[in-house]
Amino acid sequence: MSTTQSVSQDSVMARLKLETRPAHDRIESVPFSMMMQEGRLPQARFAGQLACWLAVHGTLEAGVRESDDEACTAVWIESMARTSHLRNDLACHGDMDMPPAAATATLKTIGWIATLAVTDPRALLGCLYVLEGSKLGGTILRKCLDDAYNCGPEALSYYWASGASPMPDFKAFKERMEAALTTDDDRDRVVAAASGLFDHLTDVLDGLLCGLDTSGADTEPTPEGVCPFGHG
Ligand code: HEM
Repeated sequence: MSTTQSVSQDSVMARLKLETRPAHDRIESVPFSMMMQEGRLPQARFAGQLACWLAVHGTLEAGVRESDDEACTAVWIESMARTSHLRNDLACHGDMDMPPAAATATLKTIGWIATLAVTDPRALLGCLYVLEGSKLGGTILRKCLDDAYNCGPEALSYYWASGASPMPDFKAFKERMEAALTTDDDRDRVVAAASGLFDHLTDVLDGLLCGLDTSGADTEPTPEGVCPFGHG
């Protein structure tokens, strides 16, 4: 039996993990992500990424928080918000370098989220999954970033928003998602939105790479749960 067949179609979280896996592998292995993990990303470009993420989080968090949709109300809790962490960190990393291609890709992303907030707010929960799940890989990245910029966790609060381990928060998020998304139609729309956000964010990271020397960036995806550089 293939892996796809063994996943219950009734579990939105199992479907999200499985069906967005190729998109996750792509975003994890684009040269920008590899340079971040290898400690080769100029700090100003890291600050540029924080600014892009701030625009995306701000639009998505407002969309879910302000929605009257029952599922959004059931899943959202205020402690998931990370815009204040991003603002804090942005102020800690000096000058920001934002190539026009990254700004354009970010604007496209927030336009896409804003449209979804109007046409299908429940689907925003797929986008929320992408950002909430990114805390898992963040435990690897925060060590790599701290080593690269010697900045301490207070300048990486975005990556520490759930404390030492994001697992308890992620488990509770999973339970709220499973309880709130009970039809195949809901689950289909949420999974499609998650894939859509992964693709948009991958374009943002490609834009952030403009003008950087990417030679030597190893583009093999990291095995699950393992930092190839010995961190974490
Ligand atoms: C930059 C390098 C990245 C690395 C090294 C990385 C690594 C990881 C790791 C180790 C996990 C845990 C996998 C598991 O235990 O099953 C994970 C999960 C996840 N990551 Fe990443 N990640 C990266 C980037 C990203 C980005 C940029 C996003 C989205 C913005 C993202 C979204 C997710 C999601 C949604 C999950 C949850 C998967 C699930 O269990 O459903 N990751 N990542």
